[in-house]
Amino acid sequence: MSSIHVIDHPLVQHKLTLMRRKDASTNSFRRLLGELATLMAYEVTRDMPLQDIEIETPLETMTGHVIDGKKLVLISILRAGNGFLDGMLDVVPGARVGHIGLYRDPKTLQAVEYYFKMPSGMNERDVIVVDPMLATGNSASAALTRIKHLQPRSIKFVCLLAAPEGIARLQEAHPEVPIYTAAVDRQLNEHGYILPGLGDAGDRIFGTK
Ligand code: URA
Repeated sequence: MSSIHVIDHPLVQHKLTLMRRKDASTNSFRRLLGELATLMAYEVTRDMPLQDIEIETPLETMTGHVIDGKKLVLISILRAGNGFLDGMLDVVPGARVGHIGLYRDPKTLQAVEYYFKMPSGMNERDVIVVDPMLATGNSASAALTRIKHLQPRSIKFVCLLAAPEGIARLQEAHPEVPIYTAAVDRQLNEHGYILPGLGDAGDRIFGTK
């Protein structure tokens, strides 16, 4: 079964609460999401492999340790995933980026793919899939299925908020993919929105409502 990592650092919880408020402006919502993505990136990349390299300090030679950032791919589930991307790229600027576009059919709530663009050599890369909201889990599950066909070395899924329904869906369909989130909320409403949630993440990031 997928492991769930709830990132309960006080800074993460504080910023998440500010974002949830309905009167948070587009500007502050977007800024807070970026800051949260950066903070969460620390936890998500905690077990990334390091390589030894020889360097010269001003005083002597030593063996240092570096991440091979180019092996990492951040995959954004459009469009709200893009709100997460920049904050993560601040911490791992060498990462490659993929995009997958899925929309939710409003009647069936099923995911329909309209865009898919990935870096080459995916079978040698570690993947982190980002989408702020894990609601029904349909989009996330469809994205993971598609990405798995490219046989990356590893896959993680990162969201800001998760509903129990979405977690159950991913655990059933992709039990080997660990889930990182800042909170697990109570439930979905009849329109597939997370309660108490924060509303429509895409609209709040891009100011489209
Ligand atoms: N997508 C959102 O943006 N918000 C939700 O609550 C659920 C899915």
